[in-house]
Amino acid sequence: MSALRFSDTISAALADGILVVTIDNAPVNALSADVRAGLMAAFDHAEQSADVAGVVLTGAGSSFIGGADIKEFGKPPIEPHLPDVISRIEALGKPVVAAINGVALGGGLEVALACHRRLAALTAKLGLPEVKLGIVPGAGGTQRLPRLTGIAAAIDMIANGRIISAAEALKLGIIDGVSGGALLIDTIADIKAIDASSLRRTGPLSVPSETLEAVDKAAADALRKARGQRAPAEAVRLVRFAATAPFSEGLAEERRTFIALRDSEEAAALRHVFFAERAAGKVEGLEAVAPRKIETVGIVGTGLMGSGIAVSALNGGYRVIGVEQNAEAAAKGRDRIAGLLDKAVQSGRLDAAGREDRVSRLTVTADMQQLAQADIIIEAVFDDLAVKTELFQRLDTIVRADAILATNTSYLDPDVIAAATQRPERIVGLHFFSPAHIMRLLEVVNCKKTAPDVLVTALGLAKRLGKLPIVSGVTEGFIGNSIFSAYRREAEYMVEDGASPQEIDAALEAYGFPMGPFAVFDMAGLEIAWARRKRQAVTRDPAERYVVIADRLCEAGRFGQKTGLGWYAYPDGKRTVDPTVTEMIDAARAEKDIVPKRFTADEIVSRLLKAMVDEGNALLSRGIAARASDIDLVMINGYGFPSSKGGPMFAAGRR
Ligand code: 3HC
Repeated sequence: MSALRFSDTISAALADGILVVTIDNAPVNALSADVRAGLMAAFDHAEQSADVAGVVLTGAGSSFIGGADIKEFGKPPIEPHLPDVISRIEALGKPVVAAINGVALGGGLEVALACHRRLAALTAKLGLPEVKLGIVPGAGGTQRLPRLTGIAAAIDMIANGRIISAAEALKLGIIDGVSGGALLIDTIADIKAIDASSLRRTGPLSVPSETLEAVDKAAADALRKARGQRAPAEAVRLVRFAATAPFSEGLAEERRTFIALRDSEEAAALRHVFFAERAAGKVEGLEAVAPRKIETVGIVGTGLMGSGIAVSALNGGYRVIGVEQNAEAAAKGRDRIAGLLDKAVQSGRLDAAGREDRVSRLTVTADMQQLAQADIIIEAVFDDLAVKTELFQRLDTIVRADAILATNTSYLDPDVIAAATQRPERIVGLHFFSPAHIMRLLEVVNCKKTAPDVLVTALGLAKRLGKLPIVSGVTEGFIGNSIFSAYRREAEYMVEDGASPQEIDAALEAYGFPMGPFAVFDMAGLEIAWARRKRQAVTRDPAERYVVIADRLCEAGRFGQKTGLGWYAYPDGKRTVDPTVTEMIDAARAEKDIVPKRFTADEIVSRLLKAMVDEGNALLSRGIAARASDIDLVMINGYGFPSSKGGPMFAAGRR
């Protein structure tokens, strides 16, 4: 066996006429300039060398290829370009088989699609997730995939950016075999069996025929989920094009579209989100701190929030002990958790065996002493300082000395709760968003005395729950609700200044929010914020601007959607402008002698963005948030800020 090197990241070994080319570009074998150049050289060598009868392409480590190198986007392109490398592979006069040892995503799957055959490890994952970055596949994916799967399945995968298992890829015809063990040995055996005179060529291959209805349905489903983003619509168009256009035309149209989208604002924003997510949850200075071991999660309170947290913890593979006040409440809590698992089964997210496994790891009891077995205890009880403080004092006497205590408070000061216990260093905040088993965002609150290993453990737990953890310091409402309060305040100022709630909602919805602020207030209910305002009234600076309209709505019993009346009326559930509210607004303006002025949609968006950014900058300067991109992620994942705009901090910098 002779070893060859074609670039820093591409090496190869020749054994028995088969050149095994390995991509080694940690962490995910992305297709950097060095990888592309090395592949080109390796395939040139394979063509020219009489000793090489065929090529097996694989990746080092746990990835095959994680896609194009996203870090190169936005910089001047470097040759060779990926489509040229792919054409080189496809045009090779000798068989090439991909041994897909791990993720084959984006450009990585496109490289594999250009090979003559593909074998994958059982654990491999495949997909063309480019739309998540605001682009479409740019190296043949939209044209080669439908030639294997048909148009409907290709639309489903590409326009949704859906990542699939090796087993599904086999079923769809994307790969030719799955290897349960020795992938490389299996692939070498596979390539040796290929009749080199009958190598498949992509060009003449036609798209499998299928019904028009199936294609239309796949397209409509994808476009509905895309909510106006450009990339999924372009992906649908390009895949449909594959059915009618010659292959070379399809490739050219795909490349043109890819380049236009890659250079768009939407793609820049989504790239920002991608890297922001990778940076989130990393805490400077704590890289070397080892987490505590967590096997059993205790949850106090199994209401709406607690049951969602329990399902998350069960999904994360933990044993869960839920605690309620009495046996009846425990039985209800257990039913609630089982009900959420049943829903997951009904929607196909979970199979029956998965449900049974989760149920077998669940205990719900009225006996708090059982929490002595838990490694971390998360409280999800009524958000009241006295209730939580008393609970934590009690837990302090029950749980092990090394167990972590987490509070799910949204507004209370966890430092005060911690101070009431014997070991404040073991207290951390875990602010889940409702429904807790669905929402990805999790604010991990680093309290004044939280020990470094407690914080690191909480972050590890969050990741295992499939959450996106964002570290927040202690301030009222943490990062998310602080910014949301500023947003709410500014929206109400604008109503007083002359914009109507419906104008503000329409402007924000056109910007990309699923709902404008007033529709959100009505959906969430107005009474909690009203109660908080009443509490704060004692300490409020009388010189501070204060808008009374929301108080007047509550005084009139208008608590939002659930009462059928709020900022809007909801006859038959439909959001409708209510003249009574318009009168209340007019009256409030008149009391302050405000002459209403008109706002354009752009002015509305700018003012609200500025309010969020000012608050965001204040949080950064106080050290509550570690980085601006964390604030962006909180607003995108918890408050409906459109990800295609990159979050408020990013968006404000681009205006
Ligand atoms: N380019 C550059 N860096 C990448 C990358 C890529 N395609 N994919 C991942 N990375 C980096 C991450 O930034 C991170 O860096 P850091 O350690 O410095 O923060 C590191 O690799 C590890 O990434 P993750 O933390 O995400 O690791 P996981 O193991 O959880 O996930 C993954 C690995 C599934 C590959 C995930 O990173 C991922 O989904 N990557 C993006 C895949 C993708 O979108 N590919 C398409 C790219 S666009 C394209 O190919 C265009 C083509 O059609 C022309």
